Amino acid sequence: MTRTVYIETYGCQMNVSDAELMYGTLQASGYTPVEGPEGADVVLVNTCAIRENAEQRVIGRLGELRRDLKPGAVLGVTGCMAQRLGPRLLETDTRVQLVVGPDAYRMLPQLIDGARGGERTSATDFDLEEHYEDVVARRFEGVKAWIPVQRGCDYKCTYCIVPTTRGPERSRRLAEVVRETQEVVAQGLTEVILLGQTVNSYHDGTHDFADLLRAVGAVDGIRRVRYTSPHPNDFSDRVIAAMAETPTVCEHVHLPMQSGSTSMLKRMLRRYTREAYLDCVARLRAAMPGLGLTTDIIVGFPGETDEEFADTLALVREVRFDDAFTFKFSMREGTPATRMPAEWLIPDAVIDARYDTLLATVRGIARERNLGRLGERMEVLVEKEARKGELLQCRSRDFKTVLVQGPTAWIGRYLTVELTGTTGATFTGTPVQERQPLPMAG
Ligand code: SAH
Ligand code: SF4
Ligand code: F3S
Repeated sequence: MTRTVYIETYGCQMNVSDAELMYGTLQASGYTPVEGPEGADVVLVNTCAIRENAEQRVIGRLGELRRDLKPGAVLGVTGCMAQRLGPRLLETDTRVQLVVGPDAYRMLPQLIDGARGGERTSATDFDLEEHYEDVVARRFEGVKAWIPVQRGCDYKCTYCIVPTTRGPERSRRLAEVVRETQEVVAQGLTEVILLGQTVNSYHDGTHDFADLLRAVGAVDGIRRVRYTSPHPNDFSDRVIAAMAETPTVCEHVHLPMQSGSTSMLKRMLRRYTREAYLDCVARLRAAMPGLGLTTDIIVGFPGETDEEFADTLALVREVRFDDAFTFKFSMREGTPATRMPAEWLIPDAVIDARYDTLLATVRGIARERNLGRLGERMEVLVEKEARKGELLQCRSRDFKTVLVQGPTAWIGRYLTVELTGTTGATFTGTPVQERQPLPMAG
C-alpha cells in the first residue's frame, strides 16, 4: 500500500525548491504526494524563520493541523525554523515527531519510519557536501524550474537568521547545474531560475557565476534564465558582461538594498555604501538598458535615525525601482543585532509610520513607471491561470506581470502582447499578431 505525503511550504523560493527535493526523495521511497493534510500519512510543515511573524504563523498552523491529522499520521517540521529550534520544537509541540533541517532531507524516509514506530527525532546537522545531486526533484510548476546552485550564506548581515539556518555557503558544480537544466528542458520547461542566498558569489572551485550564466544560458532549448538573489558586492564586471551577452538571461535583477544610508548599511554589515550600491545599479543599467530592477528594504533597524530613513527614501527616488519588497525589522534570536544597545530599538509606532511612507513612495514610483509603458509591445511567457477571472498570468523578461485573455492551452507558450492597462502594479495586455499566427482559442 502506498503512503501519502503532504508538504506545506512557507518562506522563500529556496524552501519551495527544497520541498521539490523532499517530494522527490520520498517518492523514490514509495510515497505519493497529495494536495492537502487531510488523510495524509505524513504531513511536513516546511518553515521560514526570517521574521518573527513567519514563525508565529507556523506555530498557529501546527495547532490547526493537529486537529486535521488522521490518527497515526506523522507530523514533522522542516526548513529554517526546524534548523533554528531543533529539539526545542519537540518540547513546545508534543504532536510533532520530526524536526529536520535543510541538510538532512536525505534521511527523511528513515526518520519517518522511526516516527511511525513512535520515535521523536531532531536532525539538524549541516552537511557541506549535500547538494541532493542524485535526487530527482518532483516539480509542480509547469513552465519554469527553480534550480538551487548554492546553499548557505557566508555574509553575516547583523539582522539575518539565514547564516544560522542554512549554514556556510557552498556551490554546486557547474556541470551538475547544466545537467539539471538539460533535464528540465527535456521535460518541456523553458525557463530556469538559479537560486542562492548571494547567488552571484557562486564559485564551484573552477567556475564563477559568469561562467555559470553563460553555460546555463547556452543549454539547447532554454529560453529564459533568471537568478535570485544577488549581492551588490558580487557583481563583478565579468558577471555583468555575462548577463548582458547571454541572450537567454532575462533583463531583470532583484538587487536587495536594505537601506539607503551608509551609516545604517554599516550597522547592518552589508559591506557596501550608498555610493557603491548606486554604482552597481549604474553599471547594470549601462550594460542592459531597460533593465527591470527590484529590491528589498528593511525599516526600523536598531538606531535608524530620521536622517538615515530619509536617505533610504531618497535612494528609492533616485533609483526608481520597478518594485520593492519592504519589511519591518524583526529581531531574531542569536543574530548580532540582539547585542546592540537597547536604546537603539525603534518604537513600533515609528516603524509603522516609516513603513507606510516607504510603501507609498515605492508604489507611487512603480505606478508612474508602469503608466509610462502602456502601449509597449513585449514578449511574455504564459505561466498559469490568474487567480481572478478568465485570465492568464504572463511574465515579461523584465519581470512584469501581464494578465491576458486566452485559453489555458496557451500556458507554457510565448506571446507578443501589447500593454493596454495597468493597476499601477500589474498590467493587462492583448496578444498581437506577429509573423507566426497565434493558436486559435478553444
Ligand atoms: N539573501 C538575500 C535575502 C534573503 S532574506 C539577500 O541577501 O539579499 C529576504 C529579505 O528579508 C532580505 O533581503 C531582507 O530585506 C529581509 N529580512 C531579513 N532579515 C530580516 C529581519 N530580521 N527583519 C526584517 N526583514 C528581514
Ligand atoms: Fe542574510 Fe545577508 Fe546572507 Fe542575505 S546576504 S542571507 S541578508 S546574511
Ligand atoms: Fe525563510 Fe529560510 Fe528562506 S529563513 S526566507 S525560508 S532561507
